[in-house]
This record gives sequence, C-alpha cells and structure tokens, in this order.
Amino acid sequence: MSIQILGTGAYVPERIVTNDDLSRMVDTSDEWIQQRVGVRERHVSVSESAADMGAKAAQRALEAAGITADQLDLIVGATVSPDRICPSVSASVQEQIGASCPAFDVNSACSGFLFALDTAAAFIARGGIRYALVLGAERLSRIVDWSDRSTCVIFGDGAGAFVIAPGENYLASHLFTQGGDSVLAIPLGKGNSPFYEKEEEPLAVHMSGQETFKFAVKQIVGGLNLIAEQAGVTPDQFDYIVPHQANYRIIDLAARRLGIPMERFMLNLDRYGNTSSASVPISFDELARSGKLKKGDLIAMCAFGGGLSSAACLIRW
Ligand code: COA
Repeated sequence: MSIQILGTGAYVPERIVTNDDLSRMVDTSDEWIQQRVGVRERHVSVSESAADMGAKAAQRALEAAGITADQLDLIVGATVSPDRICPSVSASVQEQIGASCPAFDVNSACSGFLFALDTAAAFIARGGIRYALVLGAERLSRIVDWSDRSTCVIFGDGAGAFVIAPGENYLASHLFTQGGDSVLAIPLGKGNSPFYEKEEEPLAVHMSGQETFKFAVKQIVGGLNLIAEQAGVTPDQFDYIVPHQANYRIIDLAARRLGIPMERFMLNLDRYGNTSSASVPISFDELARSGKLKKGDLIAMCAFGGGLSSAACLIRW
C-alpha cells in the first residue's frame, strides 16, 4: 500500500507522578495499581498543552526523517485533550514548528493515532503529498477527575509523531467504530449556557472499567487477526506488536489468546500510563530508537478506546 515511515519522535513532560504520590490523593496503593493496571508512574504536564508537546515530538520526528517543517504537505493529528477546541492541535503544531501545509485533527480517542495514520495514508494514496506528519498528543491530566481513583491512576500525558512519505510498507489496516457513550465518554460540561436543559455532565473521563477491558481484549485479538489475514501472514509472524498502553493485563490476555509471546509486545505503560492517542507513537518511537529493529521486520500496531473504537495496522520496517 501507500506509505513508509521516515522518522518518529516522542515527548513526555518532565514532571513524574508516582503511584505513591497518588495514594496521598485518593484511596489507592502502589501495589493495587501495579497489580491491576501495571503502571508505576506517569508524566504529567504542569504548563505544556497537547499542542506544545505535539510540536516537540514533531521536531524529533522531523530530525529523525532528515527533513524540515517547510517540506511538509500535510499534518494530521489526533487528540481528545486539546487545551482549545480551536485552533486544532495540528494547527498549533503547524505554527510552532514553522510548517505551512494544511493541518487538522481527528478524534477517535485512544485509537486516534491509527485513524490519523490511515487518514494521512489515504491522502498520500490520492497523490500530491511528498511528506506528511501524523501525531497523537494528549494532556489527559486536564480532563481526568483527580478525585476518582478508578480513572486517575491510569492516565498520563505525552505526544508522539511519525513523518511518513509515499512507499510500499503499509501492508494492512483495519478501523472499527461501535458508536455509543455508555462505556466510555468524556463530556465537555455545559459552559454557561442559559438554554441548556440536559442534566450537566462535568468534564471528566467517565469509564466502565470492566466493559472497556472486555472490549479491548476482543478488539486487539480480532484486529490483529484481521490485518494478518489482509497481509497474507499469521499473527505469530509479527516480529513486534506495538499495542495501546492501557493495562498490562489486557495485553497479556490478548497475547495469550493470540499465542504470541509477551516479549514481542512493546511495553512501556509502567513508565507512562495510558497516554491515549499518544500511546502507540510514543511506544513505536521507543522501539524504533532501541536498535532492535531490522529491515524487513513486520510490526503490528493496535489500539482501542472511546467511541467505542479500535484500529490495527501492519507495517514492514
Ligand atoms: N485503587 C484501589 N482500589 C480501586 C482502585 C484504585 N485505584 N480503583 C478501583 N478500585 C476498587 C473498586 O472500587 C472495587 O472495589 P469494590 O470491590 O470494593 O467495589 C475493586 O477495586 C475492583 O474494581 P474493578 O473495577 O472491578 O477493578 P478491575 O480489576 O476491573 O480494574 C480497571 C479496574 C479500571 C483498572 C480495569 O477494569 C481496566 O483497566 N479496564 C480497562 C480500562 C481502560 O483500558 N481504559 C482506557 C481505555 S482506552
């Protein structure tokens, strides 16, 4: 298919919040969080917006790709936690890095980066685009309810980015949406509208943990099987899998159902938590910079989240 990855980059804010820090804020413990989720610590922004972090990740991806921002023809970003609804995170990144191309965001929650990547791939397939920047950038700390122990222990902030170009290394992709707000939703709050009649839902991540868990395992297994089939391989031929970093137990269960050893799954959720749309590109960047990848490796990416949504794709390195 239509793209190759030229360079990747990631950025997380400096401030680290440990499980012990959280146990002083809500009724939880380091032991519970490590056992039930797998997170030890997460990075939290004190002043940087999703766009600020996205711009830093983008700079690193541009450096890795060996191109400059003025060469970009397209920026597609994914986020659910912009500091402003307008301008889009991608438009702010465009300004900060000094690009001049069209830039817009997509929202498919934690699957957003893979939806953005597929969108950019479709633009490239249409023709006329030499270089595109795809990014996931999140400041989830501003939309998490820090008094809700069932959600605030999970999430973290950060950004990741790819520079892509026309190529032949995008072997398969699958996007899925099952619309509904009963399992996972982030309402905006009512503002100060005097006309608003619905009961107010405050700005926060509302999540049914167990329902999300079941959906996640099913979609990872289904998505990875589907992309393998599309590419004419079997999932055990994947050299690496870069999954959305939501919960160690979700990934472990999916790995066992697929019969793929856990060592092939890129894991960093212990250090970053769930950074939503930034999670896959941050993890991919870490894998790409680890020196482990060999030319020709088959790398699957998969994600799931609000929407409900899920996505998977397969690339050849
Ligand atoms: N610390 C201590 N106890 C906690 C806790 C915390 N941070 N959060 C919840 N609990 C408690 C619950 O109140 C409950 O107590 P009770 O039995 O007295 O009622 C108990 O732990 C079990 O809660 P439950 O929700 O059944 O736990 P769980 O094993 O399902 O784990 C999640 C909860 C949220 C970690 C887990 O369901 C999960 O990760 N789900 C997927 C979420 C996800 O991936 N979200 C992102 C999607 S992109």
